[in-house]
Amino acid sequence: MAEPNLPRRWFLGLWTGGVLTALGGMIVAPAVAFITSPLWKRTSALEAGFSDAGPVDSIAAGQWTLVPVNIVRQDGWSKETQARSVLVLRQGSGNGDIKVLSPICTHLGCPVSLSPDGSQFQCPCHGGVYNHDGVHVSGPPPRNMDSLEFVVRDDHLWVRWQDFKVSVPDRIAVQI
Ligand code: FES
Repeated sequence: MAEPNLPRRWFLGLWTGGVLTALGGMIVAPAVAFITSPLWKRTSALEAGFSDAGPVDSIAAGQWTLVPVNIVRQDGWSKETQARSVLVLRQGSGNGDIKVLSPICTHLGCPVSLSPDGSQFQCPCHGGVYNHDGVHVSGPPPRNMDSLEFVVRDDHLWVRWQDFKVSVPDRIAVQI
């Protein structure tokens, strides 16, 4: 039987190499995607403006806890990290077992704190009081405490910090 001529052998070699490369890619690409997927998830959470509030299990269960978060403010090319704190109440580890509130009083923006017996939030500036769920009870605040959006991902709590207009009855997000 005659040997294939040189162009034909070259073409067969190229075709075989291409098929093997494609097959290799089909096997390797999903493996790489699987290994790096947690990284993608973290990055996408960060890109969406969520801040890592730490492992859910590190937050005491059954009581409101002030948890520090770092938020990133982007202004054109400059990026600045700012420290904030959020109030977290967790009864379990899932999304439905957690509440997150902003500690900023809705009257004029002072930070509220939990009363010594843990039954309500009190504002030191003008005596505003909210109950244990952040519902306005008495004093000048015009609305309840503001809840914050969050997700639980990879056993971490991710919170989206948001500033809201103070001294108004409606919850209106402030864009910065
Ligand atoms: S700022 Fe909280 S009651 Fe005025």
